[in-house]
Amino acid sequence: MIKVLENLKTMSTEYINEKLGDNIQVVSEKSKYKAKNKDITGIILDARKLDLTKFPKLKVISRVGVGKDNLDLKECKRRKIKVYITPCDELTNAVAEFTVSQILILLRKEARGQNLNGKTIGIIGYGRIGMKIEFLLGPFVNNDILVNDLEMEHYPGYSDKERLIKSSDIIIITVSGNDRIIGKDEIKLMKRGTILVNMARQNCIDEKAVFDAIMDNTLYGVISDVNPGIPFGRSYDWRIMKSAHVASGTYEAREKMELLAVENLIEGLKI
Ligand code: GLV
Repeated sequence: MIKVLENLKTMSTEYINEKLGDNIQVVSEKSKYKAKNKDITGIILDARKLDLTKFPKLKVISRVGVGKDNLDLKECKRRKIKVYITPCDELTNAVAEFTVSQILILLRKEARGQNLNGKTIGIIGYGRIGMKIEFLLGPFVNNDILVNDLEMEHYPGYSDKERLIKSSDIIIITVSGNDRIIGKDEIKLMKRGTILVNMARQNCIDEKAVFDAIMDNTLYGVISDVNPGIPFGRSYDWRIMKSAHVASGTYEAREKMELLAVENLIEGLKI
């Protein structure tokens, strides 16, 4: 029995049923089929937290997306639950394009806005998405881009985190986990008027400290595309651009990720 704990946007659970054949039934929160959690062997999952204790027979978790921070990976390993994710160009492009568009919008929100050209960009988290953002922004900023990533100390644009934070006008966070990257101490290092962009997870920045820094004009503004989608500090100040983790929400990205998630599920249940 498969459970789809994901609001699939480009395919129906009936379609997945067809792909999986008659012997596996797919249930979703919306579908007419119902099943007990204890009978579930596979889950197609979004970014929400999963309580593994409710699914004693679980063999496969197929994430629609790339983050695994909502899963207890140690417990998955112990129970030999296979975990799949769906990295793909469509997702990378969607998130990178969204990031660049949000930055351009924020820079021009004031009547007398700012050019992007001339800015120094700092990217913390230099995976597929960070690299794509660098590629898109590079020509705008004469390649004045610093990058930081735990695994990439030998890359030419590499900067330690402190130097990156001190030197950048726009700091973009595209790390894969939920660890705190920017708090009060880091804000103290920033140039006045820095823009902060969090495309990762809510805990990556101390929202309260960032909010205060915007209010006292230490920071120019923040772009945040993380769950949950409630307003940042419940403020509607124009310098706070908050969206509900929608950067990957293009049709192309959703279609590809959902397809990959079903394929991964089938693969995982084979053995
Ligand atoms: C998005 O953040 C994802 O985990 O895919």
